[in-house]
Amino acid sequence: MDASISKAFDLSGRVAVVTGAGGGIGREAAALFAAAGARVVIGDVKADGLFDTVRLVEAVGGRAIAVPTDVSKRSEVEALVQTAAQEFGSVDIMANVAGIIRNNLVVDTSEDELDAVIAVNLKGVYFGCAAAARVMIAQQRGSIINVASTGMDMPVPSLSCYALTKAAVAMLTRTLATEVGPHGVRVNGIAPGFTDTPMTQRTWKSTDGFVDEQARDDMWKLRSAQSPLNRIGNARDQAMQMLYLASDASAFVTGQILRANGGVSMMP
Ligand SMILES: NC(=O)c1ccc[n+]([C@@H]2O[C@H](COP(=O)([O-])OP(=O)(O)OC[C@H]3O[C@@H](n4cnc5c(N)ncnc54)[C@H](O)[C@@H]3O)[C@@H](O)[C@H]2O)c1
Repeated sequence: MDASISKAFDLSGRVAVVTGAGGGIGREAAALFAAAGARVVIGDVKADGLFDTVRLVEAVGGRAIAVPTDVSKRSEVEALVQTAAQEFGSVDIMANVAGIIRNNLVVDTSEDELDAVIAVNLKGVYFGCAAAARVMIAQQRGSIINVASTGMDMPVPSLSCYALTKAAVAMLTRTLATEVGPHGVRVNGIAPGFTDTPMTQRTWKSTDGFVDEQARDDMWKLRSAQSPLNRIGNARDQAMQMLYLASDASAFVTGQILRANGGVSMMP
């Protein structure tokens, strides 16, 4: 293989910050960035999940620093980014992955519920963008990756809070891309379709670990049938998109949202 191809995806010498890295897509992205050569600084509100991710990173020969972080608190997000800058010397990649989902009809949604989803999914991403962009502007390089959702394009009953934050993340991504592009900083997003992670497993797996196999099979069948590829996504599918956006392979890509959803939605 032409060496320039693997070099385009090589993150050796780069430093990546990943939020929501205590599980699911964030954990997979942290491990994949590390496998591609990056040192990673990982944040999550669930500290125990972070330590498992550190072990995964170390298993691929990487280095990780875990910083328990609630992304809805600006000071904690800034401390996470500063840890990367101080301990590893730069912030080359910022992946804003942390997110929560709540199901409720608009007429039944409380103000507290609305505030909680906005605090994590929108303000958390905004704080991550701002903290990383300041460092990246000073460096005159960097790649920010925000995680939106297919929900940003497709209205679904009971997902109003979630969907509106994801649509806002897409606009934040495009707006910031216009502001920081002249400084050599790229800003993109991914909009995952239905992906097998703890977020979606909650519909068939109880907190004590009980698996309702019938409910799982029904859900996977229903979601697979929506895709021309006839399958649901996995965390690696999403992390691969993020590796592309983090790396020099996407050097001319900014302000874009990659819809890694198996073709469930196709935008013109
Ligand atoms: N799984 C899917 O089908 C799917 C589809 C579209 C978009 N997404 C998005 O992908 C991202 C990752 O989701 P996932 O599927 O891996 O879900 P997940 O629930 O498995 O992981 C989300 C992680 O975010 C962390 N988190 C939650 N609140 C936080 C906070 N305040 N501060 C820091 N960390 C916090 C959780 O502890 C968890 O480790 C989310 O933004 C989600 O909205 C997921």
